[in-house]
Amino acid sequence: MAEKPISLTGIKPTGMPHLGNYLGAIRPALRKTEQYRGVYFIADYHALTTVFDGAQMRDQIERVAATWLALGLDPEKNLFYKQSDIPEIFELSWILGCFTPKGFMNRAHAYKAKVAANQEAGEELDANIGMGLYTYPLLMDADILLFGADIVPVGKDQKQHVEFARDVAQRFDQNYGTDVLKLPEPVIEESTDVIPGLDGRKMSKSYGNTIELFLPSKQLKKKVNKIVTNSQGVEEPKDPDTCQVFKLFSLFATPEESAALAARYREGGMGWGEAKNALYELLERVFDEPRRRFEELMANRSEIHAILRRGAERARDEAAPRMAEIRRLVGTDIYSA
Ligand code: TRP
Repeated sequence: MAEKPISLTGIKPTGMPHLGNYLGAIRPALRKTEQYRGVYFIADYHALTTVFDGAQMRDQIERVAATWLALGLDPEKNLFYKQSDIPEIFELSWILGCFTPKGFMNRAHAYKAKVAANQEAGEELDANIGMGLYTYPLLMDADILLFGADIVPVGKDQKQHVEFARDVAQRFDQNYGTDVLKLPEPVIEESTDVIPGLDGRKMSKSYGNTIELFLPSKQLKKKVNKIVTNSQGVEEPKDPDTCQVFKLFSLFATPEESAALAARYREGGMGWGEAKNALYELLERVFDEPRRRFEELMANRSEIHAILRRGAERARDEAAPRMAEIRRLVGTDIYSA
């Protein structure tokens, strides 16, 4: 068993990650590896609730895996695997379903939101709702509990799912008089809300205001130039604290660099073009090396495959004792009792 507590992160492969994902989820998760043992996985079967094109699924899995690797995830020090490579997760998901009241699933946020939308539209309540969406939280419970996660860093929208995992773990443990399933703590990354997109609203794919990771220089520059600013002229002093160019800059810069740019804002004589250029150059600097690594991996996907295969092997080895104990407890393992 690992000595450090375990921090577990599930990554749904649903498109190219953007700066908001990086600042809100990827960077904080990678920084946790000093105090925690990191368990990272690509939640491809969760993505199957919305991605129904095989080629697209494959591409997104590889892209997201390459992104995390390029940004510094060390697959040797941490566990890094693809969910669908671990059959034990699905086995456990079924078992946990047998300890989950159906009413719980009815209260899951994503499902409830769909039902409410159907009601609003005058449709049948369960119209266009797949069983994948309905049982989504059960699969997540298994993701978390199979590896004995101590903490699960998540955005606010996923907190309820971690609470479900705690609940079902308790039910299971109580029934069998065991502590084989550990109760995980959700850790909320508050910062996700404050990362502004091009238009100043929260950066989010659904608003179409994102800056994707690893854009080629020219495209990155174009995107940065699209960030909305006010109509102040070059000479006017400007307020860094209400400017999303500055906000983004400060999220990547050292405190000294931020202080220097803030001073330039306040003294006047600096136009928006110059501020945007400062941000662009900073992003080039921060992501130059990871972008090169990303391109390398994407040009040599067998390297990604080898890393994920090896990760899955190690993950299955690590999960095996807990799964064996669970089978013994529920009594389906008649052989080693
Ligand atoms: N549902 C999560 C999301 O949409 C992804 C995920 C799947 C996950 N399994 C997990 C997150 C387990 C944390 C723990 O982002």
